[in-house]
Amino acid sequence: MLNEKILKLLKENRGDYTSGTEISRSLDVSRTAVWKHIEGLRKAGYSIDAVPSSGYKLAGSPDILTHAEIDAGLKTRYIGKNIHAFSLTDSTNTKAFELALHGAPEGTLVVAEGQRKGKGRLGRRWESPKGVNIYTSIILRPRIAPSSASQITLLAAVAAARAIEKTTKILPDIKWPNDLLIRGKKAAGILMELDSEADMVNFIVLGIGIDVNMEPASLPHDVARVATSLMNETGRRLERVPVIQELCRQIEKWYEIFKKEGFGPVITEWERLSIMAGKYVRVSFLKDTKEGVALGLDTDGALLLRLPTGRIERVVAGDVTMIR
Ligand code: BTN
Repeated sequence: MLNEKILKLLKENRGDYTSGTEISRSLDVSRTAVWKHIEGLRKAGYSIDAVPSSGYKLAGSPDILTHAEIDAGLKTRYIGKNIHAFSLTDSTNTKAFELALHGAPEGTLVVAEGQRKGKGRLGRRWESPKGVNIYTSIILRPRIAPSSASQITLLAAVAAARAIEKTTKILPDIKWPNDLLIRGKKAAGILMELDSEADMVNFIVLGIGIDVNMEPASLPHDVARVATSLMNETGRRLERVPVIQELCRQIEKWYEIFKKEGFGPVITEWERLSIMAGKYVRVSFLKDTKEGVALGLDTDGALLLRLPTGRIERVVAGDVTMIR
């Protein structure tokens, strides 16, 4: 698209003027077409200075999750290099799953400004108001057995926590399996979905929701009680693009470590960031409830729980409530 090409030129020349003639020559279009597209970009929220003798200069970008915004300055090799950006979709996980079935490459990023049917863990709904948060899904194609796939969810929790720390200076706590909490309230969640053969993963869709500029009070009462947002915690509105770019960088970093060195370094980092070790917790899954002391992670990512009887049990799914 011409808009995107002009934007790319202005971004490459950020801080300086680019002449209309130069743009029209390098994109092989008329100066009138350049002017019309500059107007289009302004309507989309870009602030562009124009000086007759010098040309155009990008003075400010809107906080929108488009291909052009995410791609500009993204420092990764393959995560986020293929971007599908939507204004509204049912669920970025559902979209990414379809794309993966049709062969989308590893690292493909699906992102939306809002979701109609955002999916949470255990069949829950994920509140997805438009224009304020991050809803993204990344396709990975690791050569692992399905039983190891939950390791990738834990890897994503580590990456998302580090991305939030880099962009806000606040390091969230991880609550098993993949909730990111700030001062005890949830700021981000991860939903991993999987397509596999009996003994080999075909692909994984890593769905990550980060509450960035949302007012928790705007949510339904039961969710608002336990939710927060990065804006709520930092006291300022944040640009979402740098958060998503850092998330891509951290996922690539930890995924590379995982491929080269296995799950060990991820477990170590997860345990460093987790608030659970040594805490007495309750784990609920469907109608089953267990209580005990959280000891840490098993080699496959299961939670190790010491029951009051002294027996150590592996927990592979459920919701954790911290008791003391
Ligand atoms: C949880 O319950 O904690 C997991 C929430 C995951 C939400 C994200 S938002 C992007 C992706 N698309 C979805 O429909 N869900 C995930």
